[in-house]
Parts: sequence; C-alpha cells; structure tokens
Amino acid sequence: MSNTAAGAQTIKSSDEYIAKANIKDLSIYKEAAADPVAYWEKCAERLDWFDKWHTALDWNPPFAKWFIGGKLNASYNCLDRHIKNGLGSKTAIYWEAESGEGKEISYGEVYKAVNKFANAIKKLGAKKGDRVAIYMPMVPEAAYAMLACARIGAIHSVVFGGFSSDSLRDRIQDASCNLLITADGGYRRGKTIALKEIADKALEECPTINNVIVVERSKDAINFKKGRDHWYHDLIADVDDFCEPEPMDAEDMLFILYTSGTTGKPKGIMHTTGGYMTGAVTTTKLVFDLKNDDIFWCTADVGWITGHSYIVYGPMANAATQVMYEGTPDFPAKDRFWKIVEKYKVSVFYTAPTAVRAFMKWGADLPAGCDLSSLRLLGSVGEPINPEAWLWYGEHIGKNKCPIVDTWWQTETGGVMISAIPSVIPAKPGSATKPLPGIDAKVLDETGNEIKEGTGTLSITSPWPSMLRGIWGDEKRFKDVYWSKWDQKYFPGDGARLDEDGYFWLLGRIDDVMLISGHNIGTAEVESALVDHKSVAESAVVGIKDDLTGQAIAAFVILKDGSTPSDELNKELSDHVAGKIGKIAKPKKIIFTADLPKTRSGKIMRRLLRDIGEGRALGDVTTLADASVVEKLKATYSEE
Ligand code: WT7
Repeated sequence: MSNTAAGAQTIKSSDEYIAKANIKDLSIYKEAAADPVAYWEKCAERLDWFDKWHTALDWNPPFAKWFIGGKLNASYNCLDRHIKNGLGSKTAIYWEAESGEGKEISYGEVYKAVNKFANAIKKLGAKKGDRVAIYMPMVPEAAYAMLACARIGAIHSVVFGGFSSDSLRDRIQDASCNLLITADGGYRRGKTIALKEIADKALEECPTINNVIVVERSKDAINFKKGRDHWYHDLIADVDDFCEPEPMDAEDMLFILYTSGTTGKPKGIMHTTGGYMTGAVTTTKLVFDLKNDDIFWCTADVGWITGHSYIVYGPMANAATQVMYEGTPDFPAKDRFWKIVEKYKVSVFYTAPTAVRAFMKWGADLPAGCDLSSLRLLGSVGEPINPEAWLWYGEHIGKNKCPIVDTWWQTETGGVMISAIPSVIPAKPGSATKPLPGIDAKVLDETGNEIKEGTGTLSITSPWPSMLRGIWGDEKRFKDVYWSKWDQKYFPGDGARLDEDGYFWLLGRIDDVMLISGHNIGTAEVESALVDHKSVAESAVVGIKDDLTGQAIAAFVILKDGSTPSDELNKELSDHVAGKIGKIAKPKKIIFTADLPKTRSGKIMRRLLRDIGEGRALGDVTTLADASVVEKLKATYSEE
C-alpha cells in the first residue's frame, strides 16, 4: 500500500492473485493502443462466426458499423458451440430460489430449453426483426426467453419486473412489440408479485400484442385471455428439441433496452449482435479474469443492462458457471448473500455500491458468520463507490485478499468501459481506474479540449464495438443527447476527474438524470408522474445524496388550489409515483411549496433545489425571478 500526492491510497493486488491471473502485463494495452480496430477484430474472434466480416469498422459519425458482412448468432455463441466443445454437462446456472430451493442447470439443459422456447415462439408466429417484450422475475426462464429470441433473430426488450403497468405499457408501445413473455407472479420477500395482473393492465392499451406466454412460477390464480394467452409449459410440450439458429448480420439488432432520459420518455437503446457480443464476451473475460472453474455471481436483475451483459450474454458466451438468485439480500435474513456465496462457493462476486452500503449498515458480523473463502475477486457497478464502502467491501467481504474492480459503464456502452484489470492496474479506492484496452476515454472541457489532469466531462472519443447504435424510432434524439455537445465525441453525461496518474474518478451525472440505487431515473419522469395526480399543479424533482441508495429523490410540489398539504397526501403522492413508474422511483421526500425557484427564462434551478434538499447554504441566486422563493423553500425544508 502506498500513498500518491493526492493522498489516495494505491492498492496492489496480492501476489497470489497476480500469479494466477490471465493477464500478466500491460502488453494488451499497448497492442490495443497501437491499432484499436485490429485489437477489436482479435476480440471478435472470441466468438464463432458463420461468415467472417469483410470490413471491421465503418465510422460515419455518429453512426458506427462493426464487423460488416459477418454473420453470427448470439444464442449459438452462448450454447451450441459449448455443447460442440464437450461442455454439455458443465453447470451453466445454479439457480437459487428465494425459498432456498436450488436448481443446478447444465449447458446441455439450457440448450434444450432455449431450443424448445425458440420453437414455441416461432409457432406463435414470431420471426426475425419482431420485437418481443419480456417481463419476468429472476427465474432461469427469463434468460431462456432472451436467448430464444436471439436464436430466431427476434429483438428482445426486457422490462424490469419491478416496473409498473404504465412503464411496461409505454415500452411495449414504443417498440410495437407483438409478443409478451411474462410469468404468473414472482417472489419477493416471501410474498408474490402479480406480474400477469400488472401485465394484463398494461395490455389493455397495447393493441400490437397478439400473444402472451406465461411461465408458471407463483401458481397464483390469474386471468387467461383465450386465444392470446398461452402457458409456457403447454407450448414447449410438443415442439422439437432443435431450432436452427438464425444467421444474423453483425449489425442486426439483438435487443432494445430502455433507459431514462432527461425528458419524460425512456430511450430505447439499440444494441446489435456482432458488436455487443464482442464487448460482452471480451469484458467478462478480462475484467473478471474468468477461469474455467470460476463460480461467477452478478447480483443484478436481468431487467437491467448489467443482467444482460453479465448474467446472460457475457458469462454464457464464455461458458461460465454462474449463480442466479431470485430474491432480495435481506430475505429471510440479512446474511442471505453470504449464505449463497458459502453454499455455491462463489469465486467472483459483482454487486452495486448501494448494496455494499446496506451490508455495512447491517454489520460485519453477518459476513463474518459465513465461509467466504471461495471469493477471489469483487466487483462494483452502478454509481461511484465511496472509498469508505470500497474499503469495507475489501476488508469484510474480500478479507483483504480479493481485488475490487470498480466498473464504469452504461446501458448505452453495452459493456464495461473503465475498470482495472487488477493483475496489472493497482486500485485506488473510489476510482474506476483506467479505460479498458481499446477504449478511448478522455476528460474534456466544455469546448471539447482534453484535460490532462483535473475535472471536466467524460467522453469516449473513438467508436467501440458494443456502443449503442441509436434510440429506437428517434434518430434526432440520439444525435441530440449523445453527439451534440462536442463534434464526433460521445457524451455519456457524467462528470469526471483525471488525477496525476491518469486515473479516472467518476463524479456522477451532470444532466437531469438521477442515480437511485445505481439506476437511471429521469427527473422528468418523476415530475410527470406527480403532475398526473389530481392535486398537483407543478413539480420539480432532484436527486439528493443518500447514504444508502447513493441518490434519493426529493420532490418539490406545488398543489392545485383547493388541495392542502398533509401527511396523507404526501403518502398518496409517493404511492402514485410508485404506481406510475415503479417503487424504485418513490420520492424519499416530498416538499410542498407555493412556488419554485426559476431563472428568468423559466428554467427550474435544480442546482439550488439540490442545495436545499441536501441542506447546504444557498449559492448565488441573482438569476432568480423571485429570490424570496428560495428562502421560503429552505424554511419549509428545514421544518421537515
Ligand atoms: C450511469 C449508467 C452500467 C450498469 C448499471 C447502470 C453511473 C455506472 C459507475 C461507476 C460511477 C457509475 C454513471 C453512468 N455509473 N457505473 N462504476 N462509477 N458511476 O446503468 O442505468 O445505464 O446508468 O451509472 O452515471 O452514466 P445505467
């Protein structure tokens, strides 16, 4: 352990870790820097291609095409080739039900299930290019559904199972999905969540959906619409065990995944087959130093990009063995994760800072009571991990022998972009360290000039294979959001500081997107949910610092005449937002106010609201149309 000039600790991985690591020196960085496109071509060779590409990259900013002319299938790469290589009996998934039951599923079994599932959706008429919505709990069938779509070339759009019926409806409508795959219900803390009922409500306004496949999980009674709804187990009962994988162009779409934006409407981020799979297979191998006998566990839900890249496509393309867990970390007790690590001998564990902070709060005794000796590497994703949480994670979970990879990336980037390869890049707690080989990350000033040391805005300045190809149905927004700040340089929306050693310190969002438990929630989405309530005239939402969730939502609300603030109304509004978007978007604080601080041009001064929300002294308010408003707001807030 040593100290840098900035006072940040530098922590080298243990000799034991380095000795066994796949990457032993920095040559891969040098190779990638010398010829990035050639490097990515080499990475693409980690996949099996039916036809090889003739052109590696066509960069017509902001539109990139990778591996043009190449043909492949994602499901084939995650399954068939492993079976051909004799790995049919290797465990693909240890599935742990919330109840504690487990299922050990081999690659051969996943292969069979996916082939049948693919034939089942084909039987319902789904074909290449169709959009299929997937709204599922954390059961293996969620992964099978994704791989089955990939197998026939249908584009999946997974909607997180915690989202509301309105959120599901909006996403189905936006992409005109014609098939929905869901379950009767899912388990959460011993109770069931009625997914099918929520889906039914969404489908009242989704005329494009012709068929619904229902996986049986909770066994709760559900409504069945004749002709539209089908049980998964009935459909797969009489279909073939083999479905020919569709040869997809490298640039054919693999999936759409929605992420929040600064305006109300979520953005359907588009990922293609060749580029995305190259990123997923490569980053999983490099960052997690994956070996044949590893037991990998990414605790994300398949409904987020982390679940797409590091449960389904990355680990499975690498023939990894992984744990998939249905429930929450605190059920039936707060040591559930450590019990799972002990039970399956997890070696690589990937979670979010918000979870680490919860573990800290629950106390070191809980992990100390379990055997965590199988762990060799820890990961973090979703938001900046504060040094205190980083150190706690390393000490109490990693027992000071596991390196920690703090991985920066986004739904849009498809895979990890900035992260240590811990055998060759020492850590600094709180820093995501350096860009991966082949990734051109820079810190820029407002005019796009590179900052060699200091604070500015993060940018990715060259194309990379797993980059988003657009926003579904909205090319203008794609250009505006990501490519209009500077010329030909990708704008991810995060602030960053580059230190004297060239280490990146991510500073969070600089736009109006909040990071709640590591997930993007747009301020505009919550605001529009609030004004949708009959008592609300106007609202302004900001993310405020929160010890547990990183950021929490503070909502400033102006009521309509005739409505009066009360605790009941406060709760009602909170529930209303949860109903509209999902529990994750529930405001932590609702502050009733008579007015909002606005600039002369009418723009809400969120920075000021954040200052108020976080209880900081007021800054310069000279641009306020009515400066007294802020004082009133501040007084109201400190009464809370
Ligand atoms: C935003 C992307 C990538 C999967 C989970 C979130 C923030 C993510 C880190 C990190 C600092 C991080 C950024 C980014 N973020 N990882 N290691 N350090 N910030 O995916 O919902 O698309 O959110 O999450 O602000 O822009 P997402």
